Amino acid sequence: MPRPVSVTYRVWATPVEVAAGAAELFVSAANEAVEARGVARIAVSGGSTPKVMFALLADKSATYFARVPWDKLHLFFVDERCVPPTDDESNYKMTSEAMLSKVPLPAAQIHRMEGELDPEVAASRYEAAIRAEFGPGHPVFDLVLLGMGDDGHTASLFPHTQALFAMVPLVVANHVPQKETWRITLTWPVINRGREVAFLIEGAGKAQVLGDVLLGAYDPEAKPSQLIRPESGKLTFLLDAAAAAKLPQPTGGTLDLA
Ligand code: 6PG
Repeated sequence: MPRPVSVTYRVWATPVEVAAGAAELFVSAANEAVEARGVARIAVSGGSTPKVMFALLADKSATYFARVPWDKLHLFFVDERCVPPTDDESNYKMTSEAMLSKVPLPAAQIHRMEGELDPEVAASRYEAAIRAEFGPGHPVFDLVLLGMGDDGHTASLFPHTQALFAMVPLVVANHVPQKETWRITLTWPVINRGREVAFLIEGAGKAQVLGDVLLGAYDPEAKPSQLIRPESGKLTFLLDAAAAAKLPQPTGGTLDLA
């Protein structure tokens, strides 16, 4: 049976407001981590939704840039497409163009998944990079930012793919037949160890799947986002009104999932 979790979902009218809420969460999680442990380790997802949040964090005229402890931040990726970092499909490329190229985050603190390599090699190298940064014991990210596909996937944990069954590795190569491609992804147990785990989801096209994931039957092979049940017992969803349309309280609320 899945771990019970208390879901808090916050809803804003527009995607820009959601991005601001996500940027605020990024800043607060980073500062809490630095105050507590002297370092912040955050894993971010790719796709399109996080772009505006990244741009806000990099915008020196906004209220976030100056509050991010860039010198004490280590940025990791939740997943990556198996393409070079120069490819338009690359999550690293998107993140670099939107934020990394504009902020004083030292290169040694940007931990890129090497999508240009053989997927298995890239996965094992990334696992080693995580262990090198975190040291002994289970790595615990201070914040894991996730998206959700309209098929219920998160990270590169796609429905009915092998990565859903990976319990021991931190990182795996995952063949995704429905996209005829390979991906590199964090596994769901390492995501669930995150101190703070949050989904960033926008658009009417996600409303049905979000309702199915949060309110429907537990069927994680078909809806891998249901595997995300943090050990902290807390899970946050940052949503726009369009994505939240099927949820009980359209302006935000909590759901206790057994
Ligand atoms: C990726 C992401 C993936 C993403 C969802 C949602 O590599 O694509 O990590 O898990 O978060 O597919 O993508 P959008 O934000 O583009 O809807």
